[in-house]
Amino acid sequence: MQKVAVVGCGFMGTTHMEAYRLLPNAEIAAGVDVSADTRTKTADKYAVPVHESLEPVLEDDSISIVDICLPTGMHRECAENALAAGKHVLCEKPMALTVEDAQAMADAAEQAGKFLMVAQVLRFWPEYAWAKEMIDGGELGKLLSMSCVRRSTRPEWSWDGWMTRPEASGGGALDLHIHDADWICYCLGRPKAVASTGVKSEMGWDYLYTNYYYDEASASAESGIGYAPSFGFRAAFTAMLEGGQIEFDGALDPPLRVYRAGAEEPEHPKMEPIVEGAAAAEGGNISELGGYYLECKYFVDCVESGEAPTVVPPEDGVRAVAVCLAEVRSAESGEMVSL
Ligand SMILES: NC(=O)c1ccc[n+]([C@@H]2O[C@H](COP(=O)([O-])OP(=O)(O)OC[C@H]3O[C@@H](n4cnc5c(N)ncnc54)[C@H](O)[C@@H]3O)[C@@H](O)[C@H]2O)c1
Repeated sequence: MQKVAVVGCGFMGTTHMEAYRLLPNAEIAAGVDVSADTRTKTADKYAVPVHESLEPVLEDDSISIVDICLPTGMHRECAENALAAGKHVLCEKPMALTVEDAQAMADAAEQAGKFLMVAQVLRFWPEYAWAKEMIDGGELGKLLSMSCVRRSTRPEWSWDGWMTRPEASGGGALDLHIHDADWICYCLGRPKAVASTGVKSEMGWDYLYTNYYYDEASASAESGIGYAPSFGFRAAFTAMLEGGQIEFDGALDPPLRVYRAGAEEPEHPKMEPIVEGAAAAEGGNISELGGYYLECKYFVDCVESGEAPTVVPPEDGVRAVAVCLAEVRSAESGEMVSL
């Protein structure tokens, strides 16, 4: 049984708590939050102590996992303190606001000999994970291109409006776009270069359109965080392979399709329900718990077994930040940026 402390009990913190409370080998031992109101609500809902600072968690030797769901600019300090205190750390994406901070977190994990995993949730999202397995399995031949779309309403739920301040969140480029930047890197590796354009507001790059350059493949991603509330949240990708296409579109029913070259009808791979009836916390832009449940489960299982997590190694968290920041530099300069 692994005892977990969740630091930052807002939208993502409580979503992770929803996952932990369904796991047979995890127990929510504590929460940490600066907001008195959030502390009271979380303590009432999960029947656990919710502290104002991290110290009581660091001093509690029975807690093995610290799950960081703080505003992004606070990830590094919290991760370094938790790792130095001998905790394993699951940290929400983006890993950090700068490559330097992200690398320092990876180094801290190495030094402490503890696990650090960045919660790049698409790697655990059932349809994305299914597609990755299909791509790697080689049944449809080589992956030639990946195109992605992610559109969301403004993240107005955030504590103290931190997500609307680019110096705290990195703006849409880091906060939202990083999902697809990481997914593309997961499937194709680090691009040689990126070329981006977009629309900038006082919140940073609200809309970003990027081409990713590879020697033998191509990729593109479009993301936007300024959509009207009635638009909701939508995400999609199309993977073009030698032997056909894999398409995911959250607005389609069913959302996952495989179009094999030569086949008259698309196939609809069926995803088994992971946790019947479970949902993410209320108030954010995502309602399904599936990917979050699976990433928390995976991390807890890794800690339980002593096997280091391999689905998102720390260097991949660093790389995702580096790629997104290169995209921002490209959009700012109007030039292609090499990586
Ligand atoms: N994977 C995803 O799909 C996804 C979705 C949303 C957010 N996120 C990420 O999760 C992280 C948290 O985002 P969120 O949407 O939950 O934000 P949020 O504003 O809902 O929650 C942040 C919480 O941190 C608390 N907090 C602020 N400063 C603190 C401090 N010093 N000590 C303790 N608590 C403090 C706030 O009171 C708040 O409850 C961010 O890195 C964000 O990018 C990921």
